[in-house]
Amino acid sequence: MSRRRLAVLISGTGSNMAALLRSTGPEHPAQPVLVLSDRADAGGIARARALGVPVAVVERRPGESRAGHEARLQAALDAAGADLVCLAGFMRVLSPGFVARWQGRMLNIHPSLLPRHPGLDTHARALAAGDREAGCTVHEVTAALDAGPILGQAVVPVRAGDTADTLAARVLEMEHRLYPAVLRRFAQGDRTPVRLP
Ligand code: GRF
Repeated sequence: MSRRRLAVLISGTGSNMAALLRSTGPEHPAQPVLVLSDRADAGGIARARALGVPVAVVERRPGESRAGHEARLQAALDAAGADLVCLAGFMRVLSPGFVARWQGRMLNIHPSLLPRHPGLDTHARALAAGDREAGCTVHEVTAALDAGPILGQAVVPVRAGDTADTLAARVLEMEHRLYPAVLRRFAQGDRTPVRLP
């Protein structure tokens, strides 16, 4: 079976991206062909280069429309021949048109147990709500924010004395396990949800 051509979109540190790239050995059903950043200062760029994956930076230019920027993102994906996209700390909401083009071929990781806490500041909100469990979710990207079909979840305990930062660190460790596990399944055409631990 031919391997899926994977692009990973980042805006920041890229620790999930690195976990995904490291998981894709020669027997993997996906082959990383591009890391695409919308920020020239993203820490993940150096990590991707160190892992030997081509990098493109497509920042939104001052005054550029969202459609214009997305057209250049799409052009970079086309140039790399990508047919599967993982969003990994990509901090832009993509337009319905862009999402429709990638429907069924674009995943995202979100640091909460969706449908709880979509959007930002998930860990502070979990603590404020008194949640006993937190975690992360990998889902298909659809036009509704953080609401596409769930492909995997990992649960972590909330501990007494947790701050948003300590909880985020515990969840991030599980993100690095969950996202590669889901990618491996999804790239083989298996949408059965992954449950961790
Ligand atoms: C992760 O917590 C991810 O769930 C969220 O943004 C963070 C990105 O971290 N969407 P990194 O860039 O993968 O290190």
